[in-house]
Amino acid sequence: MAKSWVNSWADSAAGIGGDLHLDLSDASGSSGPGGRRAALTRALRDAVREGRLAPGTRLPPYRSLAADLGLARNTVADAYAELVAEGWLTARQGSGTRVAERAEPLRRAERAPRRTAGASPRARGPRHDLRQGTPDASAFPRAAWLVSYRRALQQAPNEVFGPGDPAGRVELREALTEYLARARGVRTEPGRIVICSGFAHALRLLFGQDKGGGTGGSTGGGVLRGPLAVEAYGLGFHRELLAAAGVRTVPLPLDEDGARSDLLGRERAVLLTPAHQFPTGGPLHPGRRAAVIDWARARGGAVLEDDYDGEFRYDRKPVGALQGLDPDRVIFIGSVSKSLSPAVRLGWMVLPERYVDDVLAAKGEREAWASVLDQLSLADFIVSGAYDRHVRRMRQRYRRRRDRLVAALATHAPHIEVTGVAAGLHAVLRLPPGTERSTVKAATWQGIALDGLAEFRHPDATESVMPVRDGIVVGYATPSEHAYGAALEALCGVLPPPGE
Ligand SMILES: Cc1ncc(COP(=O)(O)O)c(C=O)c1O
Repeated sequence: MAKSWVNSWADSAAGIGGDLHLDLSDASGSSGPGGRRAALTRALRDAVREGRLAPGTRLPPYRSLAADLGLARNTVADAYAELVAEGWLTARQGSGTRVAERAEPLRRAERAPRRTAGASPRARGPRHDLRQGTPDASAFPRAAWLVSYRRALQQAPNEVFGPGDPAGRVELREALTEYLARARGVRTEPGRIVICSGFAHALRLLFGQDKGGGTGGSTGGGVLRGPLAVEAYGLGFHRELLAAAGVRTVPLPLDEDGARSDLLGRERAVLLTPAHQFPTGGPLHPGRRAAVIDWARARGGAVLEDDYDGEFRYDRKPVGALQGLDPDRVIFIGSVSKSLSPAVRLGWMVLPERYVDDVLAAKGEREAWASVLDQLSLADFIVSGAYDRHVRRMRQRYRRRRDRLVAALATHAPHIEVTGVAAGLHAVLRLPPGTERSTVKAATWQGIALDGLAEFRHPDATESVMPVRDGIVVGYATPSEHAYGAALEALCGVLPPPGE
């Protein structure tokens, strides 16, 4: 007998529908209906105790669960009857079998240890992964990538396998020049593009390595210097990376028009996410875009444009790259981390002419980060049109997911405002003041992984710099298709009720 089952629960109490994982592994050694019934009874009891089946949830009819699990109808009926007798379930004429209202899930510490051998709870991960940051890993275009990889390998001249150019393969830089101009409005030429392994690597090259060092290939000094203005809400990992390189970051407040670039002053550089502010959402207002460029020209400052998810826009007109306004002031940085996979580790920096040599020197003679075969594959992937096709397909998929999130909230939590949904792979749910922490806790308790906005707030952003916003960041790209409905249902169940 198979170890576990994932089956569809079309008619749950919240009405969203979803999947429930039932671990029937105890039945593997047992033959006969008695062993199977005991395993199913235990698995259902565990699901109720652990809160995976919430009070009030309607269970599937005997016949459909039996068909899903490959069991006899009577085995399911007997398991339900046993749990009704124990008080975990209730059965009423006309409304089917439901999880009893008083069947309170156990608190985390009280839960029975899982019986699954081997895997630690950490390795198993959360039940519902709504963290922002990663695309749907099940959607990596394996077949199309393989075609590009094979073609790239077949056509590569022998010199490809010799010492590489620190700037990266020219084939990829040429492909990116055309693609970024067409798709993002970037103005550049191959000689001003340096291939790297992603945004984080670009920051390291620009600002120097961790003082602890040892990463290899870098002279460590950095091309730019702080203080660096950053958005008051942003990715903590990037701030930490900068701090480790000895760069002071200064929080720039945000309002409904995006970062307050009009407040830029004596900083030497500024890091922005103009297409889709991370994580709060929303593009940088045209007036603010102009203000950044004015500041950079007046101060001789550098503007770093993090175009982390610029391809994923849904309802609004594409927002072209800020870089197009002044290619001599803006360093445009992108990667395939959202469009393909963060595991591929390929990115690009589009540089003003005067930084190119310093960045190449910082990178060193040996390209230590991006495999030449991956670079050639990506070049082929772009030139053949496969990249555009993949982005288009993923855009549709993420848009559907975004729509399902918005619809679920409109039905089950209409008092919760959802923002930042016009683009990207995540949304922000604004919460009533003072409820963020308890909501994140409730989510954790229900096995939902997500982050509160506080997680992204710059530690120096005092209330006077920028008022605190309560909210949660919901990534809708990570769960696989079959798991998404259950994740939404669980999410709606932990949001604060109206009037709180
Ligand atoms: C704000 C932001 N910038 C950049 C990136 C890309 O980082 P990297 O290219 O290092 O994977 C991410 C994550 O994907 C991000 O969330």
